[in-house]
Amino acid sequence: MVLQLLINSLSNTTEGYIARIRDRLSPNIRQKLDVLHYEVFKTSVTKLELQRALQNSIKDDRVSRVNLFIALGILLFVLIVTPVFFQIFQFLITVRCFLPNNYLVWELTRPISDCSFCRSIDTPLVLQNITRTDFAPFAYSSQPIIIKNAVAHWPALKLLNYSYLKDLYEKVPGALDEDCQFLHFRSADIKSLRDFFSMKKSRVEMKGETELTWYVGWSNCHPVVLEELRKLYPRPHFLPEDAEMPNTDYIFLGYEQGAFMHLDYIPRLMWQAQLQGNKTWVLAPTPECDNVCHSFSFYVEPGDAVLVDTRMWYHGTSIPKGEFALTIQSEYG
Ligand SMILES: [Fe+2]
Repeated sequence: MVLQLLINSLSNTTEGYIARIRDRLSPNIRQKLDVLHYEVFKTSVTKLELQRALQNSIKDDRVSRVNLFIALGILLFVLIVTPVFFQIFQFLITVRCFLPNNYLVWELTRPISDCSFCRSIDTPLVLQNITRTDFAPFAYSSQPIIIKNAVAHWPALKLLNYSYLKDLYEKVPGALDEDCQFLHFRSADIKSLRDFFSMKKSRVEMKGETELTWYVGWSNCHPVVLEELRKLYPRPHFLPEDAEMPNTDYIFLGYEQGAFMHLDYIPRLMWQAQLQGNKTWVLAPTPECDNVCHSFSFYVEPGDAVLVDTRMWYHGTSIPKGEFALTIQSEYG
């Protein structure tokens, strides 16, 4: 009974479908089809069998359309998603760090100090120009040290200045385009060595009253420039003989501003040679050591060497108003 109802329902649907298709055909085609149907009914094929065959054909047609839509969907998905995945993959294989490489991230991720580096220290140790042997007991200490007149004999004190640096960088091919670290501090308009060596003379010398003051520093990583500059300053004579030195030195020069308070994220201890002008250093313990250590400041003059573990001591520098200072900085360890 149920089967008969189902067949009748399908028959009604099929007949309606046939009627709609017949209406779209030309009279000539309809006539030919009628002849064909008549010839078919002369065989043993029944009307019910023909209706079932048509039902299957309609069902197959619907399945084919669904498959077509699925295939188009997959194709569209692949076309849209592939470039996105390519971009993500390219980012993953080329990015150096997922987190930005800046002071905030370094500060947030640095280890907590145990305060032993600053306990009982509230002034630098001031040594007169000493030998390597005399310096050895202090070489790897966290005690800030000034060695008076340690570099006073270096040719750089007399020869190194803005003009010398400009001539050198402009003479050595590619030196101005070397991708070394450049720090403009508060001189926001000087973004590169090219900007720096393009300053007009009056600003370089801070002669005009309206000139903006400037203070910059950079890592000198160009091998030819580094070799030339190192002819003007040797390896500091007091450093341990087996101390490792990097293949890059820093140069800092400018007026008044100096460097803001910061920690250095460098692998070794720092030394700095004061070549021109005076500079005030301010050292502060890490905030977690504020209750057991003290901040203090000191003053260095041309010819002095300064040694500070700048990885542990927050440090900032300033230059007396209107004065110029030039320093060379590097590491040892
Ligand atoms: Fe620093």
